[in-house]
Amino acid sequence: MVLTGAGVSAESGVPTFRDAQTGLWSRFRPEQLATVGAFVADPDTVWAWYEWRRDLVEQVAPNAGHLALAELESLVPAMTLVTQNVDGLHRLAGSRKIIEFHGNLFDNHCLECACPAPGVPRPCPKPPRCHACGGLVRPGVVWFGEAIPALSLERAVQAADSCDLFMSIGTSMLVHPAAGLAARARSTGAALVEINPEPTELTRFADFAIQAPSGHVLPVLRQALAICRRRTGSNH
Ligand code: APR
Repeated sequence: MVLTGAGVSAESGVPTFRDAQTGLWSRFRPEQLATVGAFVADPDTVWAWYEWRRDLVEQVAPNAGHLALAELESLVPAMTLVTQNVDGLHRLAGSRKIIEFHGNLFDNHCLECACPAPGVPRPCPKPPRCHACGGLVRPGVVWFGEAIPALSLERAVQAADSCDLFMSIGTSMLVHPAAGLAARARSTGAALVEINPEPTELTRFADFAIQAPSGHVLPVLRQALAICRRRTGSNH
Protein backbone atom coordinates (compact mmCIF):
# COMPACT_ATOMS: atom_id res chain seq x y z
CA MET A 1 0.00 0.00 0.00
CA VAL A 2 1.21 3.47 -0.85
CA LEU A 3 -0.09 6.65 0.79
CA THR A 4 0.94 9.88 -0.90
CA GLY A 5 0.64 13.54 0.01
CA ALA A 6 1.43 16.96 -1.35
CA GLY A 7 5.22 16.33 -1.34
CA VAL A 8 4.86 13.96 -4.30
CA SER A 9 3.55 16.84 -6.42
CA ALA A 10 6.07 19.38 -5.10
CA GLU A 11 8.58 18.50 -7.83
CA SER A 12 5.88 19.20 -10.44
CA GLY A 13 5.64 22.73 -9.05
CA VAL A 14 2.47 22.36 -6.97
CA PRO A 15 3.12 24.02 -3.60
CA THR A 16 2.58 21.65 -0.66
CA PHE A 17 -0.48 22.29 1.43
CA ARG A 18 1.40 23.74 4.35
CA ASP A 19 3.82 25.84 2.29
CA ALA A 20 3.13 29.56 2.40
CA GLN A 21 0.42 30.56 -0.05
CA THR A 22 1.61 33.00 -2.64
CA GLY A 23 0.43 36.34 -4.00
CA LEU A 24 -3.23 37.12 -3.60
CA TRP A 25 -3.76 34.17 -1.25
CA SER A 26 -0.83 34.74 1.13
CA ARG A 27 -3.10 36.31 3.76
CA PHE A 28 -5.30 33.20 4.00
CA ARG A 29 -4.51 29.88 5.63
CA PRO A 30 -5.84 26.83 3.74
CA GLU A 31 -7.65 25.79 6.94
CA GLN A 32 -9.66 29.04 6.66
CA LEU A 33 -10.73 28.40 3.07
CA ALA A 34 -11.18 24.64 2.93
CA THR A 35 -14.28 24.35 5.11
CA VAL A 36 -17.97 24.21 4.43
CA GLY A 37 -18.43 27.20 6.78
CA ALA A 38 -16.02 29.31 4.72
CA PHE A 39 -17.85 28.40 1.49
CA VAL A 40 -21.28 29.18 2.94
CA ALA A 41 -20.02 32.51 4.33
CA ASP A 42 -18.23 33.59 1.16
CA PRO A 43 -18.75 31.22 -1.79
CA ASP A 44 -17.12 33.53 -4.34
CA THR A 45 -13.82 33.79 -2.44
CA VAL A 46 -13.54 30.08 -1.74
CA TRP A 47 -14.50 29.22 -5.34
CA ALA A 48 -11.89 31.72 -6.61
CA TRP A 49 -9.21 30.01 -4.49
CA TYR A 50 -10.10 26.67 -6.09
CA GLU A 51 -10.03 28.27 -9.56
CA TRP A 52 -6.54 29.56 -8.76
CA ARG A 53 -5.47 26.06 -7.71
CA ARG A 54 -7.04 24.52 -10.85
CA ASP A 55 -5.17 27.06 -13.01
CA LEU A 56 -1.94 26.12 -11.28
CA VAL A 57 -2.43 22.37 -11.68
CA GLU A 58 -3.43 22.72 -15.34
CA GLN A 59 -0.01 24.21 -16.03
CA VAL A 60 2.03 21.35 -14.54
CA ALA A 61 2.71 17.73 -15.42
CA PRO A 62 3.32 14.53 -13.46
CA ASN A 63 6.96 14.18 -12.34
CA ALA A 64 9.32 11.20 -12.18
CA GLY A 65 7.82 10.14 -8.83
CA HIS A 66 4.25 9.97 -10.18
CA LEU A 67 5.44 8.07 -13.26
CA ALA A 68 7.46 5.57 -11.20
CA LEU A 69 4.44 4.86 -8.98
CA ALA A 70 2.29 4.22 -12.06
CA GLU A 71 4.91 1.77 -13.33
CA LEU A 72 5.18 0.12 -9.90
CA GLU A 73 1.48 -0.64 -10.15
CA SER A 74 2.11 -2.84 -13.16
CA LEU A 75 5.01 -4.59 -11.41
CA VAL A 76 2.98 -5.11 -8.21
CA PRO A 77 -0.63 -5.79 -9.20
CA ALA A 78 -1.73 -6.04 -5.54
CA MET A 79 -0.60 -2.49 -4.83
CA THR A 80 -3.20 0.06 -3.72
CA LEU A 81 -2.40 3.75 -4.04
CA VAL A 82 -4.20 6.10 -1.67
CA THR A 83 -3.55 9.76 -2.30
CA GLN A 84 -4.48 12.78 -0.25
CA ASN A 85 -3.75 14.94 -3.28
CA VAL A 86 -6.63 16.46 -5.20
CA ASP A 87 -4.55 17.49 -8.23
CA GLY A 88 -5.23 14.37 -10.35
CA LEU A 89 -1.53 14.01 -11.26
CA HIS A 90 -1.32 10.31 -10.28
CA ARG A 91 -4.14 9.50 -12.66
CA LEU A 92 -2.53 11.61 -15.38
CA ALA A 93 0.70 9.65 -14.84
CA GLY A 94 -1.17 6.41 -15.50
CA SER A 95 -2.03 5.08 -12.00
CA ARG A 96 -5.34 3.23 -12.17
CA LYS A 97 -5.85 1.42 -8.86
CA ILE A 98 -6.08 4.64 -6.94
CA ILE A 99 -8.20 6.02 -4.15
CA GLU A 100 -8.45 9.82 -4.22
CA PHE A 101 -9.05 10.06 -0.50
CA HIS A 102 -9.72 13.82 -0.44
CA GLY A 103 -11.50 13.99 -3.80
CA ASN A 104 -10.42 15.80 -6.96
CA LEU A 105 -10.06 19.52 -7.74
CA PHE A 106 -11.80 19.09 -11.08
CA ASP A 107 -14.92 17.34 -9.76
CA ASN A 108 -17.83 19.40 -8.48
CA HIS A 109 -21.14 18.68 -6.80
CA CYS A 110 -24.09 20.53 -5.35
CA LEU A 111 -23.75 21.86 -1.82
CA GLU A 112 -27.48 21.29 -1.21
CA CYS A 113 -28.47 18.02 -2.92
CA ALA A 114 -24.96 16.53 -3.49
CA CYS A 115 -25.79 15.89 -7.16
CA PRO A 116 -22.62 15.63 -9.27
CA ALA A 117 -22.12 18.75 -11.41
CA PRO A 118 -20.15 17.68 -14.48
CA GLY A 119 -19.24 20.07 -17.28
CA VAL A 120 -18.49 23.19 -15.24
CA PRO A 121 -16.58 25.35 -17.76
CA ARG A 122 -12.99 26.41 -17.19
CA PRO A 123 -12.45 29.15 -16.26
CA CYS A 124 -15.58 29.75 -14.22
CA PRO A 125 -15.25 32.90 -12.10
CA LYS A 126 -18.21 32.23 -9.76
CA PRO A 127 -19.73 29.03 -8.37
CA PRO A 128 -22.43 27.87 -10.77
CA ARG A 129 -25.92 26.71 -9.76
CA CYS A 130 -26.97 23.06 -9.62
CA HIS A 131 -29.10 21.96 -12.61
CA ALA A 132 -31.21 19.74 -10.35
CA CYS A 133 -32.08 22.01 -7.39
CA GLY A 134 -30.57 25.44 -8.04
CA GLY A 135 -28.20 25.14 -5.05
CA LEU A 136 -24.62 26.34 -5.19
CA VAL A 137 -22.08 24.04 -6.82
CA ARG A 138 -18.97 23.38 -4.71
CA PRO A 139 -15.59 21.77 -5.39
CA GLY A 140 -15.62 17.97 -5.05
CA VAL A 141 -12.94 17.82 -2.39
CA VAL A 142 -13.12 16.74 1.23
CA TRP A 143 -12.94 19.82 3.42
CA PHE A 144 -11.71 20.10 7.01
CA GLY A 145 -14.37 18.69 9.31
CA GLU A 146 -15.97 16.57 6.56
CA ALA A 147 -16.01 12.79 6.47
CA ILE A 148 -14.10 10.78 3.88
CA PRO A 149 -16.62 9.21 1.44
CA ALA A 150 -17.57 5.82 2.90
CA LEU A 151 -16.40 3.70 -0.04
CA SER A 152 -12.97 5.35 -0.19
CA LEU A 153 -12.52 4.93 3.55
CA GLU A 154 -13.59 1.29 3.48
CA ARG A 155 -11.25 0.43 0.58
CA ALA A 156 -8.31 2.26 2.17
CA VAL A 157 -8.83 0.60 5.56
CA GLN A 158 -9.08 -2.79 3.90
CA ALA A 159 -5.82 -2.16 2.04
CA ALA A 160 -4.07 -0.98 5.23
CA ASP A 161 -5.29 -3.98 7.21
CA SER A 162 -4.13 -6.49 4.62
CA CYS A 163 -0.90 -5.01 3.26
CA ASP A 164 2.57 -6.36 4.01
CA LEU A 165 4.32 -3.10 3.11
CA PHE A 166 3.08 0.44 3.77
CA MET A 167 4.89 3.30 2.05
CA SER A 168 4.20 6.86 3.18
CA ILE A 169 5.45 9.29 0.55
CA GLY A 170 5.51 13.09 0.65
CA THR A 171 3.01 13.53 3.45
CA SER A 172 3.43 15.25 6.80
CA MET A 173 1.12 12.58 8.31
CA LEU A 174 -0.77 15.23 10.26
CA VAL A 175 -4.26 14.81 8.87
CA HIS A 176 -6.54 11.98 9.97
CA PRO A 177 -7.94 9.54 9.03
CA ALA A 178 -5.26 9.20 6.30
CA ALA A 179 -2.43 9.36 8.85
CA GLY A 180 -4.05 6.62 10.95
CA LEU A 181 -3.77 4.14 8.07
CA ALA A 182 -0.07 3.68 8.85
CA ALA A 183 -0.81 2.65 12.44
CA ARG A 184 -3.40 0.12 11.21
CA ALA A 185 -0.90 -1.38 8.77
CA ARG A 186 1.78 -1.54 11.44
CA SER A 187 -0.52 -3.24 13.94
CA THR A 188 -1.03 -6.12 11.51
CA GLY A 189 2.73 -6.53 11.01
CA ALA A 190 3.33 -4.55 7.81
CA ALA A 191 6.75 -2.97 7.30
CA LEU A 192 6.66 0.85 7.19
CA VAL A 193 8.73 2.84 4.73
CA GLU A 194 8.76 6.61 4.56
CA ILE A 195 10.06 8.76 1.71
CA ASN A 196 10.24 12.41 2.73
CA PRO A 197 13.16 14.87 2.90
CA GLU A 198 11.91 16.01 6.34
CA PRO A 199 11.11 13.97 9.45
CA THR A 200 7.41 13.55 10.28
CA GLU A 201 5.22 12.04 12.98
CA LEU A 202 5.76 8.68 11.31
CA THR A 203 9.55 8.72 11.06
CA ARG A 204 10.30 7.19 14.46
CA PHE A 205 7.96 4.27 13.78
CA ALA A 206 9.27 3.61 10.26
CA ASP A 207 11.39 0.56 9.48
CA PHE A 208 13.09 2.60 6.76
CA ALA A 209 13.02 6.39 6.45
CA ILE A 210 14.51 7.58 3.19
CA GLN A 211 15.09 11.31 3.62
CA ALA A 212 15.17 12.45 0.00
CA PRO A 213 12.73 13.79 -2.61
CA SER A 214 10.26 11.22 -3.97
CA GLY A 215 11.07 12.18 -7.57
CA HIS A 216 14.62 10.92 -6.95
CA VAL A 217 13.88 7.86 -4.84
CA LEU A 218 10.87 6.31 -6.60
CA PRO A 219 12.45 5.81 -10.06
CA VAL A 220 15.40 4.04 -8.39
CA LEU A 221 13.03 1.85 -6.39
CA ARG A 222 11.03 1.00 -9.50
CA GLN A 223 14.18 0.10 -11.40
CA ALA A 224 15.53 -2.04 -8.55
CA LEU A 225 12.23 -3.91 -8.34
CA ALA A 226 12.17 -4.51 -12.09
CA ILE A 227 15.69 -5.96 -11.93
CA CYS A 228 14.74 -8.24 -9.00
CA ARG A 229 11.71 -9.44 -10.94
CA ARG A 230 13.78 -10.26 -13.99
CA ARG A 231 16.27 -12.20 -11.88
CA THR A 232 13.79 -14.18 -9.79
CA GLY A 233 10.77 -14.30 -12.10
CA SER A 234 8.74 -13.73 -8.92
CA ASN A 235 5.70 -11.52 -8.39
CA HIS A 236 6.49 -10.94 -4.69
N1 APR B 1 9.42 14.55 -1.93
C1 APR B 1 8.83 13.98 -0.86
N2 APR B 1 8.27 14.70 0.13
C2 APR B 1 8.33 16.03 0.05
C3 APR B 1 8.91 16.70 -1.03
C4 APR B 1 9.49 15.89 -2.07
N3 APR B 1 10.08 16.43 -3.13
N4 APR B 1 8.80 18.03 -0.85
C5 APR B 1 8.15 18.21 0.32
N5 APR B 1 7.86 16.99 0.86
C6 APR B 1 7.15 16.69 2.11
C7 APR B 1 7.26 17.73 3.19
O1 APR B 1 8.45 17.52 3.95
C8 APR B 1 6.00 17.48 4.01
O2 APR B 1 6.24 16.50 5.02
O3 APR B 1 5.77 16.66 1.80
C9 APR B 1 5.03 16.89 2.98
C10 APR B 1 3.86 17.79 2.64
O4 APR B 1 3.06 17.96 3.77
P1 APR B 1 1.69 18.77 3.76
O5 APR B 1 1.87 20.06 3.04
O6 APR B 1 1.21 18.78 5.15
O7 APR B 1 0.74 17.89 2.82
P2 APR B 1 -0.08 16.58 3.15
O8 APR B 1 0.59 15.70 4.14
O9 APR B 1 -0.43 15.99 1.82
O10 APR B 1 -1.39 17.17 3.78
C11 APR B 1 -2.44 16.29 4.03
O11 APR B 1 -3.90 17.97 4.72
O12 APR B 1 -4.72 19.99 4.64
C12 APR B 1 -4.98 18.72 4.30
O13 APR B 1 -6.40 17.93 2.59
C13 APR B 1 -5.13 18.51 2.81
O14 APR B 1 -4.51 16.56 1.55
C14 APR B 1 -4.04 17.53 2.47
C15 APR B 1 -3.75 16.91 3.82
